[in-house]
Amino acid sequence: MTSPAYDEIAAFYRRHPYPPPVEDLDAYAARWLDGTLRRVEHHRIWPTMPYRDDHRILVAGCGTSQAAKYAVRYPNAAVTGVDVSSPGIEANRVLADRHGLENLELHEMAIEDVDRLGEPFDLVVCTGVLHHLADPDVGLVALREVLAPQGAVQLMVYAPYGRTGVYMIQDYCRRVGVGTEPEDIADLVASLRELPVGHPLSHLLRDTRDFADADALADALLNPRDRAYSVPQLYQLVARADLFLTRWVRQAPYLPQCGAPATIPHASALAALAPADQHAAVELFRGTMVRHSAILHRDEQRIGFGREAASRFVPIRVPTVVALEERLPPDAALAVLDQAHTETDLVLFLDPAEKRVFESIDGRRTIGEITESGTDLFERLWQHDHIVIDASSR
Ligand SMILES: C[S@@+](CC[C@H](N)C(=O)[O-])C[C@H]1O[C@@H](n2cnc3c(N)ncnc32)[C@H](O)[C@@H]1O
Repeated sequence: MTSPAYDEIAAFYRRHPYPPPVEDLDAYAARWLDGTLRRVEHHRIWPTMPYRDDHRILVAGCGTSQAAKYAVRYPNAAVTGVDVSSPGIEANRVLADRHGLENLELHEMAIEDVDRLGEPFDLVVCTGVLHHLADPDVGLVALREVLAPQGAVQLMVYAPYGRTGVYMIQDYCRRVGVGTEPEDIADLVASLRELPVGHPLSHLLRDTRDFADADALADALLNPRDRAYSVPQLYQLVARADLFLTRWVRQAPYLPQCGAPATIPHASALAALAPADQHAAVELFRGTMVRHSAILHRDEQRIGFGREAASRFVPIRVPTVVALEERLPPDAALAVLDQAHTETDLVLFLDPAEKRVFESIDGRRTIGEITESGTDLFERLWQHDHIVIDASSR
């Protein structure tokens, strides 16, 4: 294998560190002062394990700030960041000094070499990286090798259908010979302003923060190597690494029970499919996904909303969820939606009795302590990403 030190991707990110370095993490730290987000993240990843916040975390391909961010958001954790880009590692180091992050270790190192770290990790975060590797399979296997037995990988890779316009303009840039010097990027930005309205890239340019500035544009359109994974391709990548895709970070956009797919004439045909086939079909139906974010474990892990769930499951509200009382359909008393969803059809309408139950969720009581009316509503809230479940029976 080519040494990553000479790899074109490493060279690209040395010239174009991405995301653009940030000056400080003060505003970011403020969001994590209250421990709710940490508890929600923990139980999203490990619903059946008691809460803790002292994990060993590897941020694999940490870019310019991600390792420092994890060290800020998990002060009791031991965080290690690796990246092949020396400016990226340096930018994380500047943040570590500025914020006195003693829980952060940084290494200029390729993902393919992480076994050299010589320690297991409870959480491996690898977002926006694997799809740039010469062989993503080798990268994911290397990450699995350093995963503790109960450990989890939080993975983000590009998705193909929503990125059709990106791949078209990448091809255009190669044909035209667009380089990566600042004047090339300026010419590209000016040219893209003239893209026809119906071009498959135009909605991304308009709506997505990934294309908000010249650095982001260069990262997406002039990247020497990126690939995208459809849902079936991602399931296969994960299986080849001997891992299981145990859930999507935000699962509602993939589930036939949520949003528009639940209302179409094919709803019952979708419901009859196996889960991985449902997710594949819903990705095709939605057609606009640009990335997939998933949690991987060594073992299959599912929580079931059976009878015993009422006495064991403690629902915790997800902080990005809002509940609105305006512009409701008849009979609805509340509209609940997750602001982290980019899809607009994933609203859950609750009747007055359901509204009372929803408003009683306090993150401490079990479902059975909140209501005697069963677990159905809680399963729907969980499917829609409005709650996570602490099933650790503390
Ligand atoms: C798009 S950036 C994502 C950064 C970060 N994960 C985030 O989400 O902000 C991709 C990063 O992956 C790094 N990278 C690419 N190939 C790598 C490899 N083989 N090993 C480690 N890092 C790599 C690049 O240097 C770059 O910093």
